[in-house]
Amino acid sequence: VHTRPLVIAIDGPAASGKGTLAKRVAAAYGFAHLDTGSLYRAVGVAVLRAGGDPADPAAAGRAARDLHPEDGILADPDLRTDEAAQAASKVAAVPEVRAALLEFQRRFAEQPPGGAPGAVLDGRDIGTVVCPGADAKLFVTASVEVRADRRLKELQGRGIPAIPSDVLEDMKARDARDSQRAVAPLRPAADAFVLDTSALDADQAYAAAIAHIGSKTGLG
Ligand code: DC
Repeated sequence: VHTRPLVIAIDGPAASGKGTLAKRVAAAYGFAHLDTGSLYRAVGVAVLRAGGDPADPAAAGRAARDLHPEDGILADPDLRTDEAAQAASKVAAVPEVRAALLEFQRRFAEQPPGGAPGAVLDGRDIGTVVCPGADAKLFVTASVEVRADRRLKELQGRGIPAIPSDVLEDMKARDARDSQRAVAPLRPAADAFVLDTSALDADQAYAAAIAHIGSKTGLG
């Protein structure tokens, strides 16, 4: 009998495939899944809707403290737009925002909803800051060109016109902001398993992830 839920941390840059992987891993083990990027997106969208600037620490901090993730806001389709992604990346650099979102994320990991026996959290700083004691940590990455190409295909699949050079530039801008910010920058935890998916398809990435998680937790 486990005295506490198992925690799996999956971090990585935009369009690395970590979200798809996290969903699949959670489903395989019957764990709860939290896409922590959606928290930052919800804060960014709240600031935009209020007519504010996502880079303004006061406005962003207020929006983060007022956020009630339980209220269904994380499922709002507006969170999936590129505008929301850019706003998220700006509010994410504000220390008050990160502090306000920390408690919800830790509670999700410690007491997964629905009494699930474990939790999978994906984001940028799960293995380094949110859940440094996670039972298994994956850092999922791919070259910026491969990630931009995946994002382009995803946008095209949703019928959204996009210019390849713009998608690549946006991806580089977000990478730079996420990696170079002072607080909780994107980087692999010292004990993370780095999974480069540049040359892997989704099934191959999943197989590698499951093998690593099994070796750390004994999960079959
Ligand atoms: O994973 P995503 O694209 O939905 O994330 C949106 C932005 O939120 C990303 O640019 C950086 C930020 N983020 C973060 O700083 N920390 C997290 N744990 C998750 C996302």
